[in-house]
Amino acid sequence: MKKVVLLGASGSIGTNTLDVLSNNTNDFLLIAFSVHNHIEKIEEVIIKFPTVKYVAVSSNKKIDSIKKNYPFIIFYEGRDAIENMLKNISYDILVNALTGFAGLKPSLIAIEQNKIIALSNKESLVVGGELVKDKLSQSTAKIYPIDSEHAALFHLLSKCKKEEVKKVYITCSGGALRDIPLKNLYDVDYRKALNHPQWKMGPKITIDSATLLNKAYEVIEAHYLFDIDVDEVNVLMHKESVIHAMVELVDGSFIAHLGPSDMRPFIQYALYEGQTKLISNIDNFNIPDLHFFKKDDVRYPLFHITIDAYKSNPYSLCAINAASEMLVSLYLHGLIKFGDISHLVFEEVSDLKIPHQLTYEDLAKLDKIIKSRILWKVVFKRCLNG
Ligand SMILES: NC(=O)c1ccc[n+]([C@@H]2O[C@H](COP(=O)([O-])OP(=O)(O)OC[C@H]3O[C@@H](n4cnc5c(N)ncnc54)[C@H](OP(=O)(O)O)[C@@H]3O)[C@@H](O)[C@H]2O)c1
Repeated sequence: MKKVVLLGASGSIGTNTLDVLSNNTNDFLLIAFSVHNHIEKIEEVIIKFPTVKYVAVSSNKKIDSIKKNYPFIIFYEGRDAIENMLKNISYDILVNALTGFAGLKPSLIAIEQNKIIALSNKESLVVGGELVKDKLSQSTAKIYPIDSEHAALFHLLSKCKKEEVKKVYITCSGGALRDIPLKNLYDVDYRKALNHPQWKMGPKITIDSATLLNKAYEVIEAHYLFDIDVDEVNVLMHKESVIHAMVELVDGSFIAHLGPSDMRPFIQYALYEGQTKLISNIDNFNIPDLHFFKKDDVRYPLFHITIDAYKSNPYSLCAINAASEMLVSLYLHGLIKFGDISHLVFEEVSDLKIPHQLTYEDLAKLDKIIKSRILWKVVFKRCLNG
């Protein structure tokens, strides 16, 4: 029986993870979880999982009325709640389903603690890839990806010998705005951008899917997970999101991983450390007609901006990510246009001089600076324009 800590229980991956855990109670014991703003989720989880002993609330929301109903649970509160919880409890598996830069520190802590990490928080590898790589080399921790393309690749690569593999492919649906005429893209309403044709996900990754920032992140994620050069991770545009990943073999044949757009099999595969197990509550899946199309670089400038930034300095991804987190939030609040996201990211990072070696503390500082610079820039511009 493995003791599980779930970070981000109130999110999309968090909710799917709870579903997987509730169907595998013989193997996993949920002992701790975190939420940020959605404190109403706390009681729901505690009631469903009486095994929970610890809860972290990382925002500054007041939870006194909840706490008094559960005197047998230890609550960690405030900015360092997750870190304090992880450092004070005994557990086996960390499911990191946080969104954004906030996910990096918990991943680093779990690596230092030699834990099994079921990783959904892609920013841990995108922003902190170099730090993660370095820490992993001194640890017995293992990372199992939850991201569908990477879980699929992990599955495929586990069936092949290294010398048999020529190239790897991850697929990309093109996001919610792929069929909108280019001339209408600049000021498309955020509700449209949030309406992903295949996946139901949190808001940040959904908007990142529409700009293809998410796909650039996934290329970098694959590089760190599988030690493959970013140029060797190919992106295949595929409307239906049915093929998640493919491996091209040296004899010219391909092996593909197909499945429904449902994160639960991937989460389960990560929790079982790469073993396929029965899932009973999943819909029958019929393979539809499959379509592929060419990536349009004019529509998706952020993809290459991000890959080029990675190539020139992996640490610059911290600035790209911070800018994108703030800009996506401003877009979702109606304060900037969709088309502003990519050019403001570019403007922000194009002449930044970032050292080629940074610590976690340096990254945290950079993250804060970029976010406040973007915020001021946008607010200032709006004030000037009345
Ligand atoms: N959703 C998917 O299908 C999917 C697929 C592949 C990869 N991923 C990756 O998985 C991660 C999670 O995605 P998601 O779609 O589940 O996001 P989400 O629905 O927005 O959930 C994010 C979770 O993180 C918490 N959180 C947000 N900001 C935080 C902060 N500053 N400190 C601590 N906790 C914070 C949220 O808490 P509150 O809600 O309580 O505020 C929530 O529990 C992302 O890195 C995403 O790229 C997601």
